[in-house]
Amino acid sequence: MLSVRLTRFLPFPSDTCLAALVYEKEKNPMGVSLAGSPIEKALEIAKKDGFEGKIGQVAIVHGTGRDPSRYLFAGLGPEKEATLESMRRALSALVRQADTYRIKNLALRPALLGGLTPSFQAATEGALLGLYRYTTYKSKEEPASHLQTVHLLIKDASEQREAQKGIDRGLVFADATNFARDLINRPPSDTTPEMMCKAAKSVARPPIKIKVLNKAQIGRLGMGGILGVNRGSGKPPYFIHLTYRPKSPVRRNIALCGKGITFDSGGLSLKPARAMETMKSDMSGAALVIAIFKALAKLKPPVEVQGFAALTENMPGENAMKPGDILKALNGKTIEVLNTDAEGRLILSDTLVYAGRQKPDEIIDVATLTGACVVALGTSIAGLMGTDEKLIHRIKEAAKRAGEKVWEMPLEKSYAPLLKSKIADLKNMGPEREAGTILGGLFLKEFVDPARPWAHIDIASTAFSKDDHPLGPAGGTGVMVRTLLHYILSYQ
Ligand code: BES
Ligand code: ZN
Ligand code: ZN
Repeated sequence: MLSVRLTRFLPFPSDTCLAALVYEKEKNPMGVSLAGSPIEKALEIAKKDGFEGKIGQVAIVHGTGRDPSRYLFAGLGPEKEATLESMRRALSALVRQADTYRIKNLALRPALLGGLTPSFQAATEGALLGLYRYTTYKSKEEPASHLQTVHLLIKDASEQREAQKGIDRGLVFADATNFARDLINRPPSDTTPEMMCKAAKSVARPPIKIKVLNKAQIGRLGMGGILGVNRGSGKPPYFIHLTYRPKSPVRRNIALCGKGITFDSGGLSLKPARAMETMKSDMSGAALVIAIFKALAKLKPPVEVQGFAALTENMPGENAMKPGDILKALNGKTIEVLNTDAEGRLILSDTLVYAGRQKPDEIIDVATLTGACVVALGTSIAGLMGTDEKLIHRIKEAAKRAGEKVWEMPLEKSYAPLLKSKIADLKNMGPEREAGTILGGLFLKEFVDPARPWAHIDIASTAFSKDDHPLGPAGGTGVMVRTLLHYILSYQ
């Protein structure tokens, strides 16, 4: 495992490679004048070799044998545009490159982009997210990374406290994100509803409590949405309820709901093969709720957080629900199932009602809900909807801090009649493909206690990446773990 440490400036251990973050096209690209120093000369050489300081760009320059014998440079892009996200990406690229050069120890000074704590946090996150790999199923023992330690440099003792706080937070944020990634990347026949419960139990050490409902209990309560979706699967469903209660006075009581479909075949409304390839990721919402609790145990914010997730497969087994079937959700509303592939909203209906009954101050749900969201926003922006402006604003601010992108879509009231059924209260999809993401949101709203602020984040577009991306390899991204942690910490 890669460790990130705080280190006072020079001297470093002799096997440490010095790295520098470099702005594009600046006179003093490292933020300070280093005229005549060996690192300045090394940068000149890197530039001759085509290094420009563009974001994500990395260069190595071998010295003449004196220590440190090589320098690494990573681009931050133009100084005017640089943000904490630029630094996460620079660090991510840097550690990957260092690892391929079999460098064991790397030392660098983070760029100060808005305070010591956020800067050291972002640098730590970039390093740990960038070096993430999922190797559990590789038959040949893959060497853990060559890179062992990233030393983040402080100038003097006055920086120690704030910088260390940033590193500590960065470790917790990145660890939780990578935990969610592991759950998402695991094959769907191994990440079963039962395994997800095990994962939830593994994070439920004091002060975190967990309650797990089994199939019989789900049935007795009347969670007809969950039971309906589960009917085509050979594995029983579970419902998890995690609670974190701080010792300090509670500033806010937040409910987080996650969609936990451990595999979405579409059910009888079967998906085409290509569309199914990534559907092991349909439990990303539940994975990130669990991952957030892993972090809460360490962050200990003065906020009560409750996490809810229904877990089941969506399969076309012989007892599968059929288009035309009618289900009754926990609040008594009846739903005509026209398309068994719109199953996320069916399990979330029960989840949202259950969460509302615990009387939280607000409810946020996260779900890989609609393919339409991928069409609307592409692969790096999540959809955001909700009933409360303040809550939406606060989530947007948290997303900015995390460097994750969300875009608000309207919960257009005049579209709600599209979800009316002739023979039940609601149907689970509109008559056409139009406004698919908004209709998903409007459907969920039917199950939210109107007295409580509510927001819905559709992560269908961002939860899983088919290709390597700036902060990690192809696969589960763990997106929204860090945004929601920032959100929770905003009530400090
Ligand atoms: N899990 C899918 C949504 C999805 C699609 C997530 C692509 C990630 C990538 C969801 O259960 C689904 O299939 N939704 C349907 C709803 C439709 C039938 C109203 C969809 O988007 O096609
Ligand atoms: Zn589906
Ligand atoms: Zn789904």
